[in-house]
Formats: sequence, structure tokens, C-alpha cells
Amino acid sequence: MEEELNAAKTVVPHSHIPYGPEGTGAYTKSQTTVRLAAYECIPIVLEALTSMDINPLHTFHIVDYGSADGGVDMPLLYEMVRYLRTKYDSNPPIHVSFEDQPVNDFKSTFLMLEGLLPEQEIKSFYTDFPNTFVSACGTSFYKQNSSNARQMLPPLSVHFGYSSTAEHWLQEKPCNLPNATLHVFETDEKSMKLFAIQATKDWELFLLQRAKELVAGGHLVLATLSYTMFEVEPFVPTLKAFVDDGTITEDEFVHTTFAMYYRTVDEVKAPFEVENSTVQKAGLRMLSAWEKMIESQLYQKFNENRLGVNDFARGVVSGFRAWSNSTFLSGLADTRSDQEKADIVDKFYNRLEQDVAKDPHLTSHFTATFTSTSVKSNRLYIFCL
Ligand SMILES: C[S@@+](CC[C@H](N)C(=O)[O-])C[C@H]1O[C@@H](n2cnc3c(N)ncnc32)[C@H](O)[C@@H]1O
Repeated sequence: MEEELNAAKTVVPHSHIPYGPEGTGAYTKSQTTVRLAAYECIPIVLEALTSMDINPLHTFHIVDYGSADGGVDMPLLYEMVRYLRTKYDSNPPIHVSFEDQPVNDFKSTFLMLEGLLPEQEIKSFYTDFPNTFVSACGTSFYKQNSSNARQMLPPLSVHFGYSSTAEHWLQEKPCNLPNATLHVFETDEKSMKLFAIQATKDWELFLLQRAKELVAGGHLVLATLSYTMFEVEPFVPTLKAFVDDGTITEDEFVHTTFAMYYRTVDEVKAPFEVENSTVQKAGLRMLSAWEKMIESQLYQKFNENRLGVNDFARGVVSGFRAWSNSTFLSGLADTRSDQEKADIVDKFYNRLEQDVAKDPHLTSHFTATFTSTSVKSNRLYIFCL
């Protein structure tokens, strides 16, 4: 199976390319539902901060892994900084690093931090609190030190790591899925197995890299999307209709495969539970894990007649498009021109809006799983959606 994995895999240079105009906070504006994950994590990070032994004379370094344009996680970061400022007055200096892939929209992050986005509602800890510092890191969270690559951050340099809804992106696509776009709905056993192997490797690698960066006593709080994220395949019926009417080929359907993996709670816990695992040896211990269903705010509004069905569908699809646009483009054959590809993808999302509007109840909620851990020195809280 390992050999097959190596033969079938596709290196993904950027698992996710932002959609929408750079420097406008487009990602944040499109996300009405996943932002609830960050809100759910606020009490968890504050509890973790309370338990930490913080030296007010040393710079306190917080990293947001997979930050996108930064806006979804900004309210949580604001509360962390507010807590530290309230407890320790103007010290310690607080340094927040926003981490994502090289193609990320960091321009929006810095405009938001300076309070310069047009009609910005999100509050910036950087403008509101003294002695705060910000930086960006455009290096994959899977990068390891080698002759031609560098791990994203120096060893033992991070006091608090946070990440929401990012670790489901894999560093490699192990194969194309013949029957689904998302691995959870695939029925071909061999493909399912290849995805599971890749996800196990990547989860362990992600944790080991963070263990290197965290100082003794450091904390990591993660919110990851869970296996039960979707009740039904959100894209296949619409995409299959495109195959049936000849808009795309069967081969393009198969190539439209997300390099992502939604883990079960057991899969999230596994590296911590095997005695003497590499993750345990690296010093990380999990405190607990739990799953939670989160209702879509858009759906609530629609259900209470505060939002029409078409606006509801437009909101849902705009949220999906922010993270799925680049995968749909990448599935189309290279014999097509860029314009042709863009037109097909636009048409796809228009059709998807109509399909969501026909059955709005299918996108009423998503499910969450919480986890938390501790060891000798490091502590880890994980919250899976
Ligand atoms: C759904 S967004 C999450 C953004 C924000 N944290 C939130 O909760 O809304 C996932 C982010 O993970 C980033 N990402 C995916 N793979 C990554 C990798 N290997 N290294 C760093 N970031 C990655 C993507 O570029 C994307 O911005």
C-alpha cells in the first residue's frame, strides 16, 4: 500500500488558493459558519492562558497556523491579547505571527491589523493594545528542515499555537477519487485507504513540527474539521449533472478531488494514545477530545424567515467557494484555456446555488469534535469540527 501511495500521489504545491480580490478581506467576508469554530475556542484558549506560567519580561509569541486572511481568527486573538494586557499590564511584549501558504492573502491581514479595510467591523488588537507586534510566515506548516527547505519557525520559539479549520488540508493528494470529490463520501476502498494513510502521516508530521517549535509549558489549541462535517456530498450531484450534459468529461470529474481529509475523533486522538508514539516522545499530551454540532447562522436566519432562500443559497455557496474554487479549476483539463476553465467554474457555482436553494436543509449545520491534552511540559487542546 505504501508503494501504491508513492505511485499515485500528486504533490500539491498549494492545497488551497484564495478566491476573491486580494486586500479586501474576501475570505473573512465569505465565512459565516466556520467563524463559529474560532468563537467556540475563545474560552478554551483563555483557560489555557490562565494555567500558563508567563514571564512578563519575555516576549510572548502566539502563532495562528493556517490563518487565511486573518479575519476569522482575529476576535480570538483580540481576546487573548486583552487577557494578557489586563493581567500583566503593558508587559510582556506580545508577538503574533500569522502563518499560511505562500499564496495567501496576507495583504488583507495587515490592512485589517492597521484597521484600514473599507467598512472594517473586526477589531484589531494591534491598534488597540500597546506593546504588540505582528509578522507573517508564508511557509507550509508541513515543512521540515532539510538542505532545500526550512521549517517555518525556529525551535522552542512559540508559547501559544492556535489553528482553526486548516489541518484537513493534506500536503499531497494520494490519488483521485473515482466517485466523490471529498474522501468521506468515496466508496472505492483502495482510494479510501490511500487517503487515510496520507492523513495519518500528515497529522503526525503537523504535531511533530509544532512540538519542535513550542517552548516547554507551551500550549496548542486546534479546531479541526471532523469526519461528520457534511451529512451529504455537497458537490457531486451538481458536478455529475455537468458530466451528463457534456459540460465536463468523466475524467475531469475524477480529477476534481480535494486534497483534504476530515478526521474522526479517534483518528485525531490516535498519535497520543499509542504508548511511546513519536508524538508522545516529542512531549505532547492530549487532555481530551469532544465532538459538537454547530448550527449554521445562515440557516438559522433562513429558518426564522429573516433570510430568503436565494440569499441563503448565495451565502452558503460563497462560503464554499472561498476554499473550493482552486480545486474545481485544477480538475479541468489543461487542453482548456484559462478563460474556458473560469467560465465552467462560474457556471458550476451558479448551478450549485440553485441546487442548494432546492434543498436548503442539507446545509443546516456541521459537526464539531473537541479535544484537549497535556504532558510533562506541553499542553494541547484540540477542537474538531
Ligand atoms: C479554511 S482556511 C482557515 C482559515 C481560518 N483559520 C479560519 O478558521 O477560518 C484554511 C487555511 O489553511 C491554509 N493551509 C492549507 N494547507 C496549509 C499548509 N500546508 N500550510 C499552511 N497553511 C495551510 C489554507 O491556505 C487556508 O488559508
